[in-house]
Amino acid sequence: MNRLCNIVILTGAGISAESGLATFRADDGLWAGHRVEDVCTPDALSRDAERVFVFYDGRRAELARVEPNAAHRALARLDARWPGELLLVTQNVDDLHERAGARRLLHMHGELLSALCRACGAREPFAGAMAAGAGGRCSVCDADALRPDIVFFGEMPYQMERIERALSTADLFVSIGTSGAVYPAAGFVQLAAAHGAQTLELNLDPSAGSRLFDQSRLGPATRLVPQWVDDLLEEAD
Ligand code: APR
Repeated sequence: MNRLCNIVILTGAGISAESGLATFRADDGLWAGHRVEDVCTPDALSRDAERVFVFYDGRRAELARVEPNAAHRALARLDARWPGELLLVTQNVDDLHERAGARRLLHMHGELLSALCRACGAREPFAGAMAAGAGGRCSVCDADALRPDIVFFGEMPYQMERIERALSTADLFVSIGTSGAVYPAAGFVQLAAAHGAQTLELNLDPSAGSRLFDQSRLGPATRLVPQWVDDLLEEAD
């Protein structure tokens, strides 16, 4: 892999698991304790916004109690040192990639530390709580219409054109810590491969898409990701 190669990396909840944040589909995961229909759809928001707010308030509050792990830090190191194009696309809504120092980063499913205005569509930093009317008003249009800036099931992920452009020119696509259960992210490996990219999966367990990758390595992200980054940087030097 030479230094001018373009890299696209996709991360999922598994990269934050060793920081102490729950994944979604593990036996003790978020979707074991909550129904998607109750907390992660536009209908849930219309039907019982308070329940949605409480769910995301709890996940937002957790961020203060966790730290980036060695996998987040390794990706930030790669981001800082890779001279070619690099885009880190995360499905995660936590801020651990930012806190580790990643810069060329994109949250395709939104962010816990952001609020979205249902009236004017503005997004703004948000670190507090929304339940019990605590969310406050939109700083752009002053409407009392803030919601979690999370892409719910049935809604369009953010910046898909930018992601698809990056995948179409990638030389290497790496998927880390995701089950490959949710599209469009689960289809990125095929899009990258169709344009000639090499594809690598780093995951604790086989995923729904493992067979689609040129190579799939199984193990914890805090072991696999630093090793992969060190090898890549050494090879490129
Ligand atoms: N290291 C590496 N991978 C891990 C680790 C770990 N320590 N722990 C768990 N994993 C892997 C699991 O094997 C699993 O394949 O992370 C993956 C987590 O899968 P999910 O819980 O389905 O999370 P994710 O793939 O990010 O979900 C995608 O679904 O619910 C929606 O919007 C939500 O962004 C989320 C999307």
